[in-house]
Amino acid sequence: MRRAWAWAGTGRDGPGLGLDRTGLAPGAVASPPRGWKNEVVESLADSKVWADYNAAQADRPVRSLCLDAMAFAGPGDGRRAIDLGCGAGKETLAMLRAGWSVHAVDSLPDTRERLLVMAPEDAAGRLSIEVRAFQDLRDLPPAELIFAGYSLPFIHPDRFAGFWAVMLSALRPPGVLAVNLFGDRDSWADIPDWNFHTEAGARQLFAGLEILKFEVYDADGQSFRGPKHWHIYDVVARKP
Ligand SMILES: C[S@@+](CC[C@H](N)C(=O)[O-])C[C@H]1O[C@@H](n2cnc3c(N)ncnc32)[C@H](O)[C@@H]1O
Repeated sequence: MRRAWAWAGTGRDGPGLGLDRTGLAPGAVASPPRGWKNEVVESLADSKVWADYNAAQADRPVRSLCLDAMAFAGPGDGRRAIDLGCGAGKETLAMLRAGWSVHAVDSLPDTRERLLVMAPEDAAGRLSIEVRAFQDLRDLPPAELIFAGYSLPFIHPDRFAGFWAVMLSALRPPGVLAVNLFGDRDSWADIPDWNFHTEAGARQLFAGLEILKFEVYDADGQSFRGPKHWHIYDVVARKP
């Protein structure tokens, strides 16, 4: 299904990368300045950008993709979920509240401290935290639910396939996987450090899985340096 999202400020469920920090209003920059892509790559490689981004997430609702995935997966009942690129921990918290045991992964150095502060008391023994870059993971614990909100596109394309295999091997049937991926029509698609996929290529990643939802966002919007074109796939799939 294709849908047109409203962007930041109108309630759409998207990454909002940097908009909060720059204070740019939609349409404030008519065209990106020269070299803006280099600036974006350099800034996103900097953990301070993610720290600022995550700090600005406090008031947003839980990602609808995560809610969809939990609905497909059924009650947590202490089963394990993995939150890849847990960021501010909003989805980690939502999954804990829904009764899941959560393994939260993020490369940001202060991830553990941040999550332990927000974890509810009854989550004791149900939250494990791994501070590591995805591409350095050799394995993940077996899980019935894996969620990766706006995080997997930032893996170098040379390391993406290896990570994807590690992630899929952790998903225990009939587990549910929910991810955002970037498409090849995204304005950032020529940035060599991140991974982008044609729709056919993205669908191919789920070969052997049952695709429960595949939504495409393909529209102009806003980011760090003003207008850009977003091309994003929201995918939920089940391992049979
Ligand atoms: C755009 S934020 C998304 C955070 C949260 N999942 C959400 O939906 O708002 C991306 C998160 O992924 C983490 N991240 C980015 N690249 C990563 C990598 N290669 N390995 C591990 N974590 C990464 C960042 O530190 C950041 O917390």
